[in-house]
Amino acid sequence: MDNVIIMDHPLIQHKISRLRDKSTGTNEFRTLVSEIAMLMGFEALRDLPTELVEIETPIETTKQPMIAGKKMAIVPILRAGLGMVDGVLQLVPSAKIGHIGLYRDPDTHEPHEYYCKLPEPIDQRTILVVDPMLATGGSGADAITMIKQHGGKNIKFMCIIAAPEGLERLHKEHPDVQIYVGALDRQLNENAYICPGLGDAGDRIFGTK
Ligand code: PRP
Ligand code: URA
Repeated sequence: MDNVIIMDHPLIQHKISRLRDKSTGTNEFRTLVSEIAMLMGFEALRDLPTELVEIETPIETTKQPMIAGKKMAIVPILRAGLGMVDGVLQLVPSAKIGHIGLYRDPDTHEPHEYYCKLPEPIDQRTILVVDPMLATGGSGADAITMIKQHGGKNIKFMCIIAAPEGLERLHKEHPDVQIYVGALDRQLNENAYICPGLGDAGDRIFGTK
């Protein structure tokens, strides 16, 4: 699939395996999600545009690359996406943050929108949408549709674990969006949870349930 990058770095794989372990507690889980987001973000942002800027070194004046254009936007899908924001902010501390609130109906598994606030002008920014889990793909696809309705154009999506069904759907509905996946799992179960997965990402990050 064009525009889909599945991470194969051993540090990312190791940290995702620690996340999957049901004996990993909330504190370590949060730290791992943040670290994985930083490692994945490093790869996902490798094509950020740069421009040559004049700099005076102690030796001479020179033109060197700096990040160009409007500050990028990180857009977590609430709640679980919040856990990935800090990691990306370590790479790009000046990024603006948008928020999209979606929850999955437990019976239909359909996403429901409850919040959307994006930094303006959104059409001039590189936008990195973050959510640890891509299951049916409904939440990710709807979030990207909302961002496009607000004018967003240059959109990337980053998730830690994806199911094949969700990856296919997201790519089909938004072929222009670059998708970065930490690990591609086997399948969804009858409750639309990812197998083997890591359980409910929001509950594990926030210690709920
Ligand atoms: C989880 C997860 C994704 C969504 C993935 O959120 O963080 O947003 O499910 O499922 P999908 O691909 O089938 O849409 P959830 O709806 O449980 O909300 P929460 O983050 O508030 O717990
Ligand atoms: N949301 C989660 O948090 N986990 C899954 O496996 C599927 C959706």
